[in-house]
Order: sequence, then C-alpha cells, then structure tokens
Amino acid sequence: MDRFSEDAPTWDQRPGHTERARSVADVIRAALPLRADMRALEIGGGTGLLARALAGDLGRVVVTDVAPGMVAAAHQALDDARYVGWEARRYDIEHDPLPDASFDLVLGLLTLHHMDDVASVIGRCAQLLRPGGYLALVDLDHDPAGAFHAGVPDFHGHDGFRREDVRAWFKAAGLVEVSLTTAGSVTHETDGGPRDFPMFLATGRRPAAAA
Ligand SMILES: C[S@@+](CC[C@H](N)C(=O)[O-])C[C@H]1O[C@@H](n2cnc3c(N)ncnc32)[C@H](O)[C@@H]1O
Repeated sequence: MDRFSEDAPTWDQRPGHTERARSVADVIRAALPLRADMRALEIGGGTGLLARALAGDLGRVVVTDVAPGMVAAAHQALDDARYVGWEARRYDIEHDPLPDASFDLVLGLLTLHHMDDVASVIGRCAQLLRPGGYLALVDLDHDPAGAFHAGVPDFHGHDGFRREDVRAWFKAAGLVEVSLTTAGSVTHETDGGPRDFPMFLATGRRPAAAA
C-alpha cells in the first residue's frame, strides 16, 4: 500500500493537519472572490481538508487524490449534510487523461511538491479552468537543505519551490493576475528538532472569454 493510503485513516487527527487547512482556507478566502455557486476541483486533496474548510464559500467540489486510501477517507468525510453533491474520486493530476469538465476553481495544498513535472501539472490545472476561473496552489517555499522530507527514505519530490519559478510556470500556463503571497507555515519535526517551513499561496486566473 502507498504511504498516503496508509496514513489516510488517521490523517485528519494528526497534529496540525486540520488547523493548517483552516488557516490556509482563510488566506485563500482573503485572496480570491469565492462564491457559493463556484464548482471546484481539489487536486492531491487527501481527505479533502482544504476544500472542506471552504465549504461555506463554494458550491460543489470534486475532491481528488491519486492514493486510493485517501479517496476512501475523503468519501467517508464527505458523507455529511455540509457536502451534499460533493464527490471524492481517484485521479492522478499528473498522468491521467484530463476529465471532460471545467471548474471555476482548482485548488491544492502541499501536493505539488510530490509531482515530477510541476510546470506540466500547472498547465493541466489551467486547462481545467473555465474562462475566468482561478487556480490556487499552496506549497512549501524552497529549502535547499531538504530538511522537510529528510526522514522520508523514498521521497522523490521537490524540496519546495522558488516563488519566481512558480510565477513563471503560472504565466507559461496562460494564467493572468498571477500573485504569490505567504500562506503561513508548517511546523515539522527535523533532525534538529521542530522547525517552521513557510508556505506560499500562488493564484492565477484563466483569461475570461473575449466578448
Ligand atoms: C502531503 S499530502 C497533502 C494532502 C492534502 N492536500 C492535505 O493538505 O491534507 C499530498 C497528497 O498528494 C497526493 N498526490 C501525490 N501525487 C499526486 C498526483 N500525481 N495526483 C494526485 N494526487 C497526488 C498524495 O497521494 C497525498 O494525498
């Protein structure tokens, strides 16, 4: 079983996870004009903590993740009156064919650094937006020491990102109104004790269709 599927049953109870999603939701709320009729897609959503923290601000959400255990946990979490019409689906944003659907908002929290070709993933997210729709991705700032994942032997992802690279990838994906801001930090155990790892929120908008 993959690491995230194994972690899924206790994911929401782990220290800081729910609080982090809630504080990132506050940052997104302040950055974007969310509306209760927005259809949203969460990528690498795990149990859907971020989308669930925005439940009152959005319409229907499809929570997706590549790890089957996470999808099962999300499915269970969404069985609640607050999430009527929401779905949990297994979806690999990096490799699966793009769904025949479009969204007003595509969002993700701490998933991008697990992907290989990040520029391509951002391009795929942009293609899933309706004209005028928003992309909002939160991830770790670059840490040259790679301390966050030092204790994960099979980690093949990125040690965070430089904001100028993320900005360039958003622009290359055809997004406008690109903005990067600080989205709090993750406190994580390292060899030298607990450390705060800052996160960014990157937002961009697919240009509205010409009148
Ligand atoms: C650190 S967890 C974050 C989960 C959730 N966003 C949260 O903040 O609670 C990273 C998630 O990204 C998912 N993931 C990694 N690569 C993926 C891919 N190519 N497509 C979809 N999900 C992916 C993992 O399965 C995992 O659930």
